[in-house]
Amino acid sequence: MKIGSVELPSPFAVAPMAGMTDSAFRRLVKRHGGCGLVVTEMVSSEGLVRGIDRTLEYAEYTEEERPVSIQIFGGDPEKMAAAAQIVEGMGADIVDVNMGCPVPKIAKHNAGCSLMREPQHAATVINAMAKAVKIPVTVKMRAGWNDQEKNAPTLARMVQDAGAAAIAVHGRTAAQSYSGSADWDLVARIADDVSIPVFGSGDCIEPEQIVAKLQSGVEGVLVGRGVLRNPWILAQAEDLAAGRPKRDVTLEQRGQFLLDYIELLQHERVWDHESRPTNHDSRQRSHDKWVVNKLRALGSYYTKGLDNGSHLRTAINSAETLDELREIVVSFFSGSRVSDRAIAQI
Ligand SMILES: Cc1cc2nc3c(=O)[nH]c(=O)nc-3n(C[C@H](O)[C@H](O)[C@H](O)COP(=O)(O)O)c2cc1C
Repeated sequence: MKIGSVELPSPFAVAPMAGMTDSAFRRLVKRHGGCGLVVTEMVSSEGLVRGIDRTLEYAEYTEEERPVSIQIFGGDPEKMAAAAQIVEGMGADIVDVNMGCPVPKIAKHNAGCSLMREPQHAATVINAMAKAVKIPVTVKMRAGWNDQEKNAPTLARMVQDAGAAAIAVHGRTAAQSYSGSADWDLVARIADDVSIPVFGSGDCIEPEQIVAKLQSGVEGVLVGRGVLRNPWILAQAEDLAAGRPKRDVTLEQRGQFLLDYIELLQHERVWDHESRPTNHDSRQRSHDKWVVNKLRALGSYYTKGLDNGSHLRTAINSAETLDELREIVVSFFSGSRVSDRAIAQI
């Protein structure tokens, strides 16, 4: 599968997820196989243009993640074009535009899903970006704003005509947020109607569902929460699509994933901590706390579907240090039970 001239090794991709799909997580998913594309967490076009360190940090990626798409949000055509040039200058393979975020903080600034309410303006944004860069410009949208404004099919055509190289559709409206279920019939109709590749997104938590969705007519599937629960899901989908049985993942491997994630996060550069005019120890404590919080965020998804997963989740949430966190992970996944000490903390 190709987006513009960018070849994807697999039609399965990690969906952008703010707060979750950081570079460390993306690298680990990539290492486990089956992943054709990773998308960064959304990054503010305004922050990119103003060169704000924290924004640039969200856009960082490593070579092993390629092909990589940087997702930006904003509503001003000139700023979005300038931000696309910055993304291109950072060496990203693709620049993606967020037209799906329903969070008022984003949507009220004429960005995210509120762009879907002004399709002509949305097309102007894409046109300005497509003219400004050589890398493919893609769009990620929802089904629409609400049930009365389910205009993804119209917007898909308009952004295609404006120069978008591919689109991704999460089959829920902004009003639905994450309730109900994604409308994959709508996604399939859009894929049938436009000539650019269409990725569908929503509710794939088993590898079998990913393969079934691929057969419904879309060119690719973006998987979000399913990857947070099971980072092997794309590799397993690739197995099934190739006619092989899906690979088994042992408890030890699941535990090792969390240990590897802690390890990678420990070595990440985080602007917020490094910029503090405090001493080394206090910066280290801030960084460790950041890692603990990252693990808590992932834990709320990763523990779903595991036997005793709620115990593990509670234990992770009560851990204050990285050593405690590692101990909880090791004892849970080696013995399939949280250690007595961790249980005592629950
Ligand atoms: C925690 C979280 C953060 C998300 N952040 C973004 C984002 O930054 N940009 C975006 O386009 N979609 C974002 N999404 C939506 C996902 O990319 C995806 O379309 C949606 O979750 C449906 O797919 P899923 O059922 O496979 O999770 C986010 C979803 C979640 C759960």
